Amino acid sequence: MFKIAVIPGDGIGTEVTSQAVRILRKASQILNEQFEFTELKAGGIAIDTFGKPLPEDTLKAALASDAVLLGAVGGPKWDNLPYELKPEQALLGLRKGLELYANIRPAIMFQPLIETSSLKPEIVGGIDIVVVRELTGGIYFGRPAGILEEGGTRRGVNTMTYTVPEIERIAHTAFKLAKTRNKSRETGSRSAGRVTSVDKANILHTSMLWREVVNEIQKKNYPDIKLDHMYVDNASMQLIRNPKQFDVILTENMFGDILSDEASMLTGSIGMLPSASIGEKHALYEPVHGSAPDIAGKGLANPIASILSAAMLLEYSLKQKELARKIFRAVEVVLNEGYRTADIASQSKNVLSTEDMGRRIEAAL
Ligand code: IPM
Ligand code: MG
Repeated sequence: MFKIAVIPGDGIGTEVTSQAVRILRKASQILNEQFEFTELKAGGIAIDTFGKPLPEDTLKAALASDAVLLGAVGGPKWDNLPYELKPEQALLGLRKGLELYANIRPAIMFQPLIETSSLKPEIVGGIDIVVVRELTGGIYFGRPAGILEEGGTRRGVNTMTYTVPEIERIAHTAFKLAKTRNKSRETGSRSAGRVTSVDKANILHTSMLWREVVNEIQKKNYPDIKLDHMYVDNASMQLIRNPKQFDVILTENMFGDILSDEASMLTGSIGMLPSASIGEKHALYEPVHGSAPDIAGKGLANPIASILSAAMLLEYSLKQKELARKIFRAVEVVLNEGYRTADIASQSKNVLSTEDMGRRIEAAL
C-alpha cells in the first residue's frame, strides 16, 4: 500500500490534478499495487475553509504520506492578504515542513511541439535539460526578513544565506543525477553527464561559498562528472542563445526559480513541465505552472505537466522508472496524433479539454 496525499489547491490546480490521479490509478493497476489517495486542502481554498493557507492537519497528513501530489495554489482573491496568510505560504510551509531541499525541474522538448517554442527549431530541437534548484534555503527563507519601520521611513529586508551543509547536499543531488543521465543516454550527447553550477560569485558572498563547496564536492566525489560555473546573468542569456550546451543546471533557490521558468519556455509551454521536490524522508510532485485563474474552471488547462509530475512520482518515490518512461511516451504518442490543449495548439490540430487530454493519455498508456 502506497499512501499519496493529493493537494489540488486552487484554480486549474484541481482540474489538472484529477487527470494526474487518473493516470496514477491506471499505474496502480499496471503495477498491481494499491494506492491510497487522501485529498487535503492548502492554499486559497484552505484560507476560505480554515482561515490559513497551510492547516496543521494538512501538513501532518502530508508528513504521514509516502508522497504528495500538488496542483497549484493562489489567485487574485487572496493577493492582498498579509504575508503569513498568502496562499504561496502553503507551498513554502510544505517545502520547509517536509524538508524538500532539492527541486528537480526537467525541461524536455517533445518533438511534436517544436513549432510552439518561440525559439528556432534548430536551437531547441532535442533539448533535455534539468534544473536542480535548492528549495529550502537562500533568500526565500533567510532571516532577518520583513518590512521594517525606521526613522520615519520603511525598509524592506531579505537575507540571502547558505551554510556549507546546505550547499553540499544539493550539490550531491545534482552530481548524482548527472551520473545517471550520463549512463542512460544512448547517443552520448555532447553535454550529457555534465553539471553547470549557476551563481553570482563575482558579487555575492553566498555565491563565493557556493562555488568553493561545489568544486570541493566534485573533486572529492565525482571526478568523472564535468563541472563548470556560470554567472546567473550569463546563464539566462546562454539558455536562449544555445540551450543544448546544458545538461544539469545546479543553482540556489531564487536563481532556480527564475531560470526554470525561462527553461520552460524553450519547450513551448509551461503547461508541459513537471517537477519533483525531494528531501531525505519526503517528496512532493507538482507542475511548474501556477493556478492560472484566468482559465480556471473552463476545461482549458493542459494536464500534461501534472501527469508528468505523477510520472516523476512513480520514478523517484516508487523507483518505477520504466513505467515513468511509458507515461512520457504515452504523452508523446497523443501529441504525435495531433491532439493538443489550447496552450500548445497550432493550426489544424485537435484541441481537447483538460479531461479529454487526460483520457487520451490514459488510453495511450
Ligand atoms: C515556483 C513558484 C513559487 C516559488 C511561488 C509560487 C512561491 O514560483 O514554484 O517556482 O517562487 O518557488
Ligand atoms: Mg517560479
